[in-house]
Amino acid sequence: MSGGPAPAIEAEHLARRIDAPWGTVDALRDASLTVHRGRSAAIVGPSGSGKSTLLNILGLLDTPTAGSLRLDGHETGALTERERGRLRSEAIGFVFQSFHLVPHKDVLNNVALPLKYARVPAAEHRPRAQAALETVGLGHRLHSSPTTLSGGERQRAAVARALVRDPAVLLCDEPTGNLDAASGELVLALLLDLARQGSAAVVVVTHDPAVAARCDETLTMSDGVLAAGGSAT
Ligand SMILES: Nc1ncnc2c1ncn2[C@@H]1O[C@H](COP(=O)(O)OP(=O)(O)O)[C@@H](O)[C@H]1O
Ligand SMILES: [Mg+2]
Repeated sequence: MSGGPAPAIEAEHLARRIDAPWGTVDALRDASLTVHRGRSAAIVGPSGSGKSTLLNILGLLDTPTAGSLRLDGHETGALTERERGRLRSEAIGFVFQSFHLVPHKDVLNNVALPLKYARVPAAEHRPRAQAALETVGLGHRLHSSPTTLSGGERQRAAVARALVRDPAVLLCDEPTGNLDAASGELVLALLLDLARQGSAAVVVVTHDPAVAARCDETLTMSDGVLAAGGSAT
């Protein structure tokens, strides 16, 4: 066999057609992309062009109506619903614009949640969640409520939760969209460091050209079609 591990993400001609009550919507028409562990790709493009639809398919939250997707070497079209769930929980981390932290659990328990869902032995939860929080510079806020954190700290906690299982794929939908410039910079640097350490393939959907410029490559979504290269805004 030829050398090198399989790309973390290999998407070929993905499409997503949605049957809405008012007719058919082609939310995604044609998206191909390959991202290896250790690399980052930015996706830019106007609102409504299909970026979140693509990210949801890459994260196994949605199913394409055409095309193929291999994740971490697995052909996802061949998986049962149960196998998809397992692969999602093992191989994929998400970071959303709006953090999605559970307000009544402390930071440590928020970050441990994916371990709990994955039935990782309970004795590992605390040390692994704590290590992830130290990686993002929140080792001193383990027992804080997310409601007492700043926006930047919340997003760093969300990054810790996304990486606690060491995912092959890290999918970020406008991760800096709700942050001030300095906090956004910190979160982005963290995500890209993680990619460069070789631990994950990172895909970042962003409106911010400065964010896109920091990624290894930029792709532009336009009316459901993903093309190589960036564009102004
Ligand atoms: N569940 C849905 N039902 C109907 N239309 C949808 C649905 N999801 C997305 N769309 C449409 O598909 C297109 C792409 O949406 P989306 O992927 O959210 O774009 P973006 O993230 O780039 O703003 C939009 O026109 C949106 O209205
Ligand atoms: Mg979107």
